[in-house]
Amino acid sequence: MEIIIQPNSQQASELAARIVARTVREKPHAVLGLATGNTPLQLYRNLVRMHRESGLDFSGVTSFNLDEYVGIPPAHPSSFHSYMWAHLFSSINMPRERVNIPDGMTGDIPAACRKYEQAIRSAGGVDIQILGIGTNGHIGFNEPSSSLSSRTRIKTLTEETRLDAAAAFGGEEAVPTHVITMGLGTILDSKMCLLLAFGKKKAKAISLAAEGPVTAMVPGSILQMHPRAIFVLDKDAASDLKMADYYVWINEHKPDWQKY
Ligand code: F6R
Repeated sequence: MEIIIQPNSQQASELAARIVARTVREKPHAVLGLATGNTPLQLYRNLVRMHRESGLDFSGVTSFNLDEYVGIPPAHPSSFHSYMWAHLFSSINMPRERVNIPDGMTGDIPAACRKYEQAIRSAGGVDIQILGIGTNGHIGFNEPSSSLSSRTRIKTLTEETRLDAAAAFGGEEAVPTHVITMGLGTILDSKMCLLLAFGKKKAKAISLAAEGPVTAMVPGSILQMHPRAIFVLDKDAASDLKMADYYVWINEHKPDWQKY
């Protein structure tokens, strides 16, 4: 596990964008795993800028989103479909047919989940999985108590997560109760996991995920089992880490070939 602490979310997002851009340049047919929410917004803005200014080419890239709300049509303003088109896909040259987002309106959720897993496998697996983390430690929408080897499936949101999403839906009552999410096992299969977290309200989840025991009660802690998990944090999100000084020292003393 690599922990990179940046002075602010802007610099952290620029660094994360460099990591994603490097993958796309080295592998034009890369498969990206994408997250929604507030956290990756600046990362997506940077990718759009790199596409416009330096021709970062997404024409061969395939994407799989982590999750979608059940019962929310793609055109709903708070769907993750709408989010992705608004913040990334409309502004880069990724072909529409290579975009994959779970279908929250499917009539057969188990079959749709199996198909999603199969599509990820057929695409060759995810090269780089972007992740945020919930205040309760969830990644994707794998809430506390999720099986550490779970696959794409339906999940019930916790009260805490529904409260966190209330603003986007104009009140907690309007937040859907269920989601389709990639599982922790699905996430673990990706070749690289890039988790971003910003702000003091993520500090506890980050310290538990990075330095606590691996437990289903903190789903993000499963990333300790991943061979290539990178946490890119701002100072506030890193503020509860016991070994923060060591992580900073590591980054300051990296050989050039290891730098991003
Ligand atoms: C979203 C997702 C969630 C979010 C998490 C943090 O696709 O999978 O795990 O990453 O809830 O959300 P923000 O970034 O809004 O704090």
